[in-house]
Amino acid sequence: MKVAIIGISGKLGQYMARHCLDLGHEVVGVCRPQSSGKLAHFGDRITIVAGRSNDPAVIREAVQDADGVLCVLVPFGVDDYASGTVRAVMEHAPKDARMVFSCGWHISKDGKDRYDWKIRFIERVIAPLARLTRFVDLADQHRATRLVFESNRRWTVVRGSDLEEGESQGLPVWAEHVGDPRLAANMTRRIDFALFMVHALTNEALIQKAPAISGA
Ligand SMILES: NC(=O)c1ccc[n+]([C@@H]2O[C@H](COP(=O)([O-])OP(=O)(O)OC[C@H]3O[C@@H](n4cnc5c(N)ncnc54)[C@H](OP(=O)(O)O)[C@@H]3O)[C@@H](O)[C@H]2O)c1
Repeated sequence: MKVAIIGISGKLGQYMARHCLDLGHEVVGVCRPQSSGKLAHFGDRITIVAGRSNDPAVIREAVQDADGVLCVLVPFGVDDYASGTVRAVMEHAPKDARMVFSCGWHISKDGKDRYDWKIRFIERVIAPLARLTRFVDLADQHRATRLVFESNRRWTVVRGSDLEEGESQGLPVWAEHVGDPRLAANMTRRIDFALFMVHALTNEALIQKAPAISGA
């Protein structure tokens, strides 16, 4: 399987690359030019396309013949980086490609998620303040995932709980909605978030779903 990883130089991206290589997949990754050094340890086992992930030409080069696309959606900047990334991926990925996007629990597909005070506080108070700094625009992650949810393509949006580093504890549990008792731990190892993303590439049951995940 040929897999394009958009945002491969981040922590999640590098874990996904490791899992893909372990499975024998061919890996092409997009990262910002200043971050390509972080990938030196992969040597020639991956192909790097250097550029911003909302640049359609960069994305076209990486995804044009991919069987699967793993895409890290980040809320950085105020220039619609995440939604620009989704648009570029949707436009250039082959029509039958599996596309798996990452985001946080705060995204809702159908409004049926039940959030604790912490996420509500972040959304109502922290997010507007953060946008004022021009470093973070959480609303753009909502716009980006809305574009995905409205598509009839073969997508999955994986919604991560709080994250921590550490050895793998195995595939996280998932539920359709935040607030489900199965997600009570609200903590996922990043390596296992990556495992779930890669696993989703071949799990047909997750197509057009937005699983919320957590370690058990
Ligand atoms: N952090 C959490 O607690 C948390 C919780 C739930 C879900 N999530 C989701 O998990 C995914 C990965 O999160 P993470 O915290 O583990 O981060 P991460 O894997 O370290 O990834 C961060 C990504 O953002 C890129 N980036 C950093 N600064 C940027 C900028 N100014 N402009 C554009 N891109 C920039 C990084 O690229 P470079 O390598 O070039 O810097 C990297 O690809 C995201 O989808 C996030 O929404 C995170």
